[in-house]
Amino acid sequence: MTQRRSIIAGAGIGVPSKRLTNRDLELLVDTTEQWIVERTGINERRIASADQATTDLAEEAAREALRDAGISPTELDLIVLCTVGPDHMVPPSSCLLQHRLGARNAAAFDINAACSGFLYGLAVADQFISTGKFKRVLLVGAETLSRVTDYGDRSTCVLFGDGAGAAVLVPASGDGGILSFCLGSDGSGAELLYIPAGGSRLPASEETVKGRMHFIRMKGNEVFKLAVRAMVRSVDEALEQAGLTRQDIDLVIPHQANRRIIEACAERLGVPDEKVVINIDRYGNTAAASIPIALAEARKASLLTDGQIVVFVGFGAGLTWGSAVLRWEEWNGNGAWT
Ligand code: UT7
Repeated sequence: MTQRRSIIAGAGIGVPSKRLTNRDLELLVDTTEQWIVERTGINERRIASADQATTDLAEEAAREALRDAGISPTELDLIVLCTVGPDHMVPPSSCLLQHRLGARNAAAFDINAACSGFLYGLAVADQFISTGKFKRVLLVGAETLSRVTDYGDRSTCVLFGDGAGAAVLVPASGDGGILSFCLGSDGSGAELLYIPAGGSRLPASEETVKGRMHFIRMKGNEVFKLAVRAMVRSVDEALEQAGLTRQDIDLVIPHQANRRIIEACAERLGVPDEKVVINIDRYGNTAAASIPIALAEARKASLLTDGQIVVFVGFGAGLTWGSAVLRWEEWNGNGAWT
């Protein structure tokens, strides 16, 4: 089997229509629009309706990405769905998505690497393509974080939103594609950002529900500092592996956790604002979905052009982090699907 780089042939978005604004949050908890904007950069986030689950958002994003790539669902070899909030504990939501799409030739599995999920998924998809095993991989990041957000906790409820982003990966035909990636983890920080109950350690019970233990808990300040350090280090490592330097970066598409985190990383990397994609103002933190949503928006805004060096980077619960360096290459495949 020949080693092939993977390129992103298409991208898509699926976000709920309902918006939760900072003004809305002022009515729920002791906060102010000014605090939220100054400390996070968020103006509003999207919230799934009662009948919308993770797979519904994933399907919308996936269909748009497949259309963008001109690839039919039946051509897919693999579906990787990155999420912390599957529709059910079992089966994997990727299989529900596979069925919805009619992707009858695709294997499917979920990845939970929290906010770094898309980066882990990208690395996994890249491995399958570079070995030649698979040629068409659908990678989706999809979250309904509103279901695990405590709207009585002002330190977390202002941050999270729902949404999905998707990318279709295919083998490169030119010299572009994923050049390198860097992944890391540190479980000693597990309790800095976690949901205490609902797993095998503390299954759902009357007590866990009463104790609001099915919601996200976070020591935001500590996570903030670790995030900046790890993201900068991760980008440097991936650049070095690719034989590139910070000056070679044309565009950074970071995980959208906090505008200040993104700006601190960009400043330390010496990357000017105009080379950083930021959409946290409109979606908040959508965990594994944030990078692919930003990617799809960047693509729609024609920010991605052939030969550009694009960097993805993120950090999240686990703790996990990751980055990837790509040389952007437009796919010239002739899709059969319209
Ligand atoms: O995506 C996965 C990774 N997640 C992250 O990367 C999130 C990282 N953390 C953050 O984004 C920030 O730490 C937060 C936005 C969560 C908090 O911002 P901060 O600047 O770190 O604030 P802080 O936690 O140090 O709190 C400062 C003050 C506290 O009051 P006192 O103790 O100084 O009186 C908080 O109680 O701000 C208070 N506060 C709020 N005030 C108004 C916390 N949340 C709010 C709020 N409205 N919503």
